[in-house]
Amino acid sequence: MNVFSKEILQNKVALITGGATGIGLQIAHTLAAHGASVFICSRKEPVLQRAVEELLAAGFEAAYGVCDIRQADQVECVIEQLLNHYGRLDFVINNAAGNFPAPISGISYNGFKSVVDIDLLGTYNVTKASFERYLKANGGSIVNISAPFQQGGAAYQSHVAAAKAGVDSLTRSSAVEFGPYGIRVNAVAPGATADTEGMQRFTREVDAMEVNNPLGAVGHKSDIANAVLFLLSDAASYITGQVLVVDGGASIDLFKLGKING
Ligand code: COA
Repeated sequence: MNVFSKEILQNKVALITGGATGIGLQIAHTLAAHGASVFICSRKEPVLQRAVEELLAAGFEAAYGVCDIRQADQVECVIEQLLNHYGRLDFVINNAAGNFPAPISGISYNGFKSVVDIDLLGTYNVTKASFERYLKANGGSIVNISAPFQQGGAAYQSHVAAAKAGVDSLTRSSAVEFGPYGIRVNAVAPGATADTEGMQRFTREVDAMEVNNPLGAVGHKSDIANAVLFLLSDAASYITGQVLVVDGGASIDLFKLGKING
């Protein structure tokens, strides 16, 4: 469903980390369908190539760079590639993330560090490099992909929850620091979303998702991408430092009445 004009992001350039698959690729499609040129990055070149071919075949403007967002020098390099290619950068979507379900005692020291490094340090690296290399002088908008579950206790997700709590904090701190430069920073926190690697890792059934939120509806990648689109658009020009939860109300339904009534 398109509720925005197809031109609202005309002449804009968006960097989407982890943009070759899943929610990141859907965000790339949605932004491109509204006029933006998209630059996706991730660790795996063949996957990036396939995604860019898919975007180009749909008639969109797209390019890619290979980078591990945990490595600051690689992040600097990929932003330079983007600027050489497009000459500008308007939107940064910090979407790349790592995750696996495991209890605290089942995560190795390095496993915990790997997830925090990807989700939190990676978001910081891309935010800092984008700000210093382009956004500070030109303004823009950043959306970080967070999660809703760190508001409570998250069994089997202690590493991700800790990292995403940091992402929420970074969202607010960078919103305050960058506001004077005409840069808005917000986050989108997806709940259970169908057809994603994250859901496959949790092996939850779509049916269970349906009854576990008050709307009784399955979340789709397009729901997340549309929230990102809204926050990047001028319709959100007075919104910064906020975390928009997109989960059909699951996280606020403490007594699971949606499930009982469903
Ligand atoms: N359970 C417990 N530990 C695990 C694990 C699992 N399912 N998967 C990985 N680990 C541990 C590894 O054993 C390793 O620790 P060790 O060195 O002590 O053995 C550590 O995590 C790093 O794993 P590795 O695969 O070497 O690191 P990586 O940097 O290539 O991968 C991950 C990062 C672990 C986050 C990996 O799951 C990944 O690449 N994910 C990207 C995709 C993704 O997570 N998508 C879902 C998003 S919701």
